[in-house]
Amino acid sequence: MSLAVVYSRAQDGIAAPLVACEVHLSGGLPGTSIVGLPETAVKEARDRVRAAILNAQMDYPRRKITVNLAPADLPKDGGRFDLPIALGILAANGGIAREALRDCEFIGELALSGELRAVRGVLPAVLQATRRGRRMIVPKGNGAEAALVGDADVRVAGSLLEVCAHLAGRAPLASAEPARETAVHADAAFPDLTDVRGQPHARRALEIVAAGMHNLLLIGPPGTGKTMLASRLPGILPPLEEREALELAAVRSVVGYDSDLLDWKRRAFRAPHHTASAVALVGGGSVPRPGEISLAHHGVLFLDELPEFDRHVLEVLREPLESGRIAISRAARQAEFPARFQLVAAMNPCPCGYAGDPGGRCHCTPEAIARYRGRISGPLLDRIDIKLDMPRVPHAQLRESATGESSAVVCARVVAARQRQIARAGKPNAWLGNRELERDCALDSASQTLLDRAVERLGLSARAYHRVLRVARTLADLAGSERLTAEQVSEAIQYQRFTS
Ligand SMILES: Nc1ncnc2c1ncn2[C@@H]1O[C@H](COP(=O)(O)OP(=O)(O)OP(=O)(O)O)[C@@H](O)[C@H]1O
Ligand SMILES: [Mg+2]
Ligand SMILES: [Zn+2]
Repeated sequence: MSLAVVYSRAQDGIAAPLVACEVHLSGGLPGTSIVGLPETAVKEARDRVRAAILNAQMDYPRRKITVNLAPADLPKDGGRFDLPIALGILAANGGIAREALRDCEFIGELALSGELRAVRGVLPAVLQATRRGRRMIVPKGNGAEAALVGDADVRVAGSLLEVCAHLAGRAPLASAEPARETAVHADAAFPDLTDVRGQPHARRALEIVAAGMHNLLLIGPPGTGKTMLASRLPGILPPLEEREALELAAVRSVVGYDSDLLDWKRRAFRAPHHTASAVALVGGGSVPRPGEISLAHHGVLFLDELPEFDRHVLEVLREPLESGRIAISRAARQAEFPARFQLVAAMNPCPCGYAGDPGGRCHCTPEAIARYRGRISGPLLDRIDIKLDMPRVPHAQLRESATGESSAVVCARVVAARQRQIARAGKPNAWLGNRELERDCALDSASQTLLDRAVERLGLSARAYHRVLRVARTLADLAGSERLTAEQVSEAIQYQRFTS
């Protein structure tokens, strides 16, 4: 029987479903056809595989060859199926023992010379194969990312010939090795909070959002340190857990195979420019690829100059801000990527930037200011628990020596506060639903009165009311207490003043 089956994996979001490459040789006119929903790059596999086999001085069967990629309803693209298809053809032709292929999965694009080229999305495939207790053979260029999966049995190969020699038991392939500098990069520090002079309120706000994973909006004139502060958030967040780090690495693996992932244990800090398109921000494309929000998974997405972003681009952030995921639909295809990021946005208070600055430089009309602020939609603002005005630091203070706490000191408090949240609710406070808020944020009568008054006086919406509770909960967690105090509620109310 001239039939062979070789296993591989497709890519679907950051999932990697199993694909069987079935190869059948039969009589009839010599030729090769590939069926099973292949995209263009997979159809071209036919030519690459033939050249690779011939250039490796092996027999290419002069028969009718049918390659079926099953299941057929799963879209398949890229050159990743070249290697399994080539091995299937060789096995169906009797060149490779079929038993050697049984417990192993293969991914790799072939050059015409028979060399193996790295492909995108190998990490998700290795993760899933390993979970099912299967071995894998991948191109050398993907070895470092494959090695991130602790208990995986992954071999790396430089060419089709090397794979054949391995399968025949002549020359075993080497195991995938992590890139050597991993340790150095994992420790490479984020900029430190000690560099920030003054700004006690902003430092406090940064600590709160770090502890409760809240979203943050910084409002202030140019040069007050908004960008500086935002870039210091990842440095005070709790260290990334291995599981979280692997999820992020999987996203990066899907985006591009040139990423060496040396810094895979660091929290992400992504700062797309305000000219970024919706696709760049949330992902998309005919073959769906993740965008900035997924590259910021478990990390920080920083949107500087928020009002300059296209309104439509900001609108698409609403779904992931609610769900921590983004579903991308293109024609018949759908893909889902994780996007549990923390948003930090910065903006000037008015079009000229200097409203409220003591120098009296601002001559913007109230209408111009309202229009400027109105560019940011209410639903987006609803998802931002803390809005903070950042005034200018007096010049003399900028020249003083640094006296503030270091990131390490703040981070220790953040970690403790986050642990309380996880122990109580299993998630950071920013992700508490209304019912959980009622359960975990009981107010005494003094706090309740205070909050009721604020609702009336400031015209707080129901959503703002819940934002106050969420932030107050984090303040209590930072203070190490289960009960909320009127003081904490009062501070949380301060962070809701943003008039559009
Ligand atoms: N509080 C501060 N402590 C120390 N340096 C500061 C502080 N505020 C501003 N600076 C200095 O001013 C520079 C500009 O700050 P930054 O770019 O963060 O301002 P910004 O608020 O983002 O301004 P813009 O609105 O123009 O984007 C920083 O590189 C830093 O050197
Ligand atoms: Mg800035
Ligand atoms: Zn102005």
